[in-house]
Amino acid sequence: VYLVNSGSEATEGALKLAKRFTGRTEIISMKNAYHGSTHGALSVMGSEEFKSAYRPLLPDVRHIEFNNENDLEQITEKTACVIVEPVQGEAGVRIPKNDYLKKLRKRCHTTATLLIFDEIQTGFGRTGSLFAFEQYGIIPDILLLAKAMGGGMPIGSFITSKNIMGVLKENPILGHITTFGGHPVCCAAAIASLEVILEEKLFESVNQKEILFHEKLNHPAIKKIRSKGLMMALQFDSFELTKKVIDNCIESGVITDWFLFCDSAMRIAPPLTISEDEIEYACEIINQSIEKAIQR
Ligand SMILES: Cc1ncc(COP(=O)(O)O)c(C=O)c1O
Repeated sequence: VYLVNSGSEATEGALKLAKRFTGRTEIISMKNAYHGSTHGALSVMGSEEFKSAYRPLLPDVRHIEFNNENDLEQITEKTACVIVEPVQGEAGVRIPKNDYLKKLRKRCHTTATLLIFDEIQTGFGRTGSLFAFEQYGIIPDILLLAKAMGGGMPIGSFITSKNIMGVLKENPILGHITTFGGHPVCCAAAIASLEVILEEKLFESVNQKEILFHEKLNHPAIKKIRSKGLMMALQFDSFELTKKVIDNCIESGVITDWFLFCDSAMRIAPPLTISEDEIEYACEIINQSIEKAIQR
């Protein structure tokens, strides 16, 4: 485990590690992927609109389409790593279909490409298991964690086998450096947070809560609810409607926003500790906010 200060830094460390371990330079990421905002992380972001003002970025980056099996052929012996969110977040909560992640895993094995799972958003119970990869029957080569990891304190990590991580130690030594990465206060917060998540089994009620949201969010203007645990997107017809609904929600005390790469959907990502009463109350406000947005 290499401890850093944020999700973006975890991405940076992992990309460097993959290049160093494989001796390859090509990096593949997904269209509409979000892995952070620093230069390397921006390079693997799957949206030209958000990147073009900052070019030139990392060379040798290629984007494939999430859930598109034909695109897997683009992963070759030249590819150092594929970085992917097991459930795409900023794309508007996109869930892997037809064993896509297993097929991706297999292709990476065939080409000896490292598979990096960015669980910065999905980790620590959000999708109903401690980590999302557990639900898809595969193990990535490198796992990225941050966000919920510190229970509100800044900490992140990239995690891999000793064999892979070991290459950062030599030629040159100190392959990745951070002053405050692994700060004792943040580590204490991360341990305390993990203990609460495990002791209170916070992820065990996630699916039940997800179902309750589906039951209570029943306004006909909602075109679709995409969700994996308590990571949800309410799909509307347009940005205009979504924006009005969001403004109304915030005015009434429900904090939400749209997604970076999907502005016609509204985010629902409550704390895992949310109670059933609170879910019902929030859904009432959301339904009313939609109604008000349509009438205006
Ligand atoms: C999937 C994913 N990866 C990486 C990041 C970047 O994390 P940070 O903001 O801590 O740098 C985020 C943040 O939203 C994220 O959702």
